[in-house]
Amino acid sequence: MSQVWLITGASRGLGRAIAIAALEAGHSVAATTRSGVLDDVDPRFSDRLLVLPLDVTAPDEQVYSSVVESVTERFGRIDVLVNNAGHGILVCFEETDDAQVRELFETNVFGLMRVTRAVLPVMRQQRSGHIFNLSSLAGYVGGNAMYSATKFAVTGFTESLAFELSPFGIKATNVGPGYFRTDFLDSSSITDRPANELADYKASREQIRSFAEQANHQQAGDPAALGRLLVEVAASEHPPVHLPVGADCIEAVEQHQSSLASDVDAWRDKSVATAHETA
Ligand SMILES: NC(=O)c1ccc[n+]([C@@H]2O[C@H](COP(=O)([O-])OP(=O)(O)OC[C@H]3O[C@@H](n4cnc5c(N)ncnc54)[C@H](OP(=O)(O)O)[C@@H]3O)[C@@H](O)[C@H]2O)c1
Repeated sequence: MSQVWLITGASRGLGRAIAIAALEAGHSVAATTRSGVLDDVDPRFSDRLLVLPLDVTAPDEQVYSSVVESVTERFGRIDVLVNNAGHGILVCFEETDDAQVRELFETNVFGLMRVTRAVLPVMRQQRSGHIFNLSSLAGYVGGNAMYSATKFAVTGFTESLAFELSPFGIKATNVGPGYFRTDFLDSSSITDRPANELADYKASREQIRSFAEQANHQQAGDPAALGRLLVEVAASEHPPVHLPVGADCIEAVEQHQSSLASDVDAWRDKSVATAHETA
């Protein structure tokens, strides 16, 4: 069945690949980009593609309701929302300042929430819909404090949203990509300038930068394959709440589960003993 998809941050990378995969599967796509332009799309998709400008850090709620209105005016409904817009930061927490932290949360978390809040009335009225939130491997396993803080927020939000929305027939899936070959680690996307450079972090900073330089545009994950996977999940009767994507993410999630289980086991008795003593 043909669906209507709304995808944020579709100018490049995963967002663009998801948009193309949905179009190739015969769906209609409203693709939002900061510039309002989506280059080099096959003209055979023109009648099923709407491109709209959207910066998810826009504070005015009206911006989001106008996007939703434009989509429903053109296609009549919204079946799938992909909250994809986001970026990373390669700075250790103590070297960040409040402005950097807030900017990252504005894009990766609050922006995603603003788009979701604008779309939900349409999905609730339809009594159907599916929301994919782009979290990350870093939304399951800590590593980079600031980026992980935003992506753990997305994971917790999505898992809870799936619960809150189930009475209305709306599904939510937390998508946790491992390393995918996009501009994610490129200077065009990543923030790597510390607000407060501290000598003690020099070695960590150099290690992180050298990793990013080596991994940039060499990542194992294929964005087109991730796009096709989301199309398949959106068509399935019982989509998962959690979708770690890529062998690296699955391995990291499994290791994290086992290290969490050993922490729980090591302190189980003392932890249980914190309850009030019953009479
Ligand atoms: N690639 C990976 O390895 C990976 C792994 C885990 C999670 N992710 C997540 O997947 C999502 C997509 O990442 P990607 O790899 O495709 O990165 P990318 O190639 O850097 O693309 C990022 C996209 O987000 C858009 N964007 C950034 N800030 C925005 C804003 N304020 N408003 C609207 N759009 C904005 C960018 O638009 P412009 O072109 O205008 O900059 C671009 O379209 C992100 O949420 C990222 O955290 C990626």
